[in-house]
Amino acid sequence: MASPRQQYIYAMRFSALTALYDPLVAFTAREKHFKGALLAAAQLRPGQRVLDVGCGTGTLAIAASLQTPGLVVQGLDGDDNILRRAAGKAVRAGAKLTFRQGMSFAMPYLDNAFDRVLSSLFFHHLGTEDKRRTLDEIRRVMKPQGELYIADWGAPQNRLMRVLFYSIQLLDGFTTTQGNVEGVLPELMREAGFADVRLIRQIPTLFGTMAIYGGTKPNPA
Ligand SMILES: C[S@@+](CC[C@H](N)C(=O)[O-])C[C@H]1O[C@@H](n2cnc3c(N)ncnc32)[C@H](O)[C@@H]1O
Repeated sequence: MASPRQQYIYAMRFSALTALYDPLVAFTAREKHFKGALLAAAQLRPGQRVLDVGCGTGTLAIAASLQTPGLVVQGLDGDDNILRRAAGKAVRAGAKLTFRQGMSFAMPYLDNAFDRVLSSLFFHHLGTEDKRRTLDEIRRVMKPQGELYIADWGAPQNRLMRVLFYSIQLLDGFTTTQGNVEGVLPELMREAGFADVRLIRQIPTLFGTMAIYGGTKPNPA
């Protein structure tokens, strides 16, 4: 059986490089722009329970919490080390939210627990089967009529975006990233039972096209 360390890819591929993650993403991936667009699409309201899957250093979860006071925000990540950074950042930012260690395909939450599930720069860390398992878990923990918003590398808008994306593939590996660049996420979301699946935005960055997708968990039949 694989050890927990082998089950996922660290934010920067190697744990020792995690400290570089925030400055690199802010500089190269138009982070404020695409995370702002993701939060705008999610239309968060006070009282909602929100989960950020693969939250990493917590930038998105913290922004959600500060932007909409009264949210109950939870960040989930497999890496204890990065969660310690996230917790420190949240305290410094004055944000009230909680972080939990756990794997995306075996989440430590009850069924129907969240109104919104958010995820950014995460799905390209998963192979196709783990993308499927994770989407099944997300649907399980979401309330009916809950909404999922994902920002991640998507099908390139042009040849330049395709070429730039090779840098991510060299860093994170081709196995997990190939489906992203082929634009498979919406299809996998539909397969997992999400309705109203749509591509909301495509944002060009120095590393390729950032896509924002949305979908809704239908009411039980
Ligand atoms: C590139 S980082 C993205 C972090 C953050 N969401 C952001 O937008 O900056 C991907 C994160 O996913 C986490 N991760 C990868 N596979 C995971 C899995 N199967 N379950 C939980 N966390 C996972 C890594 O530890 C890492 O923190």
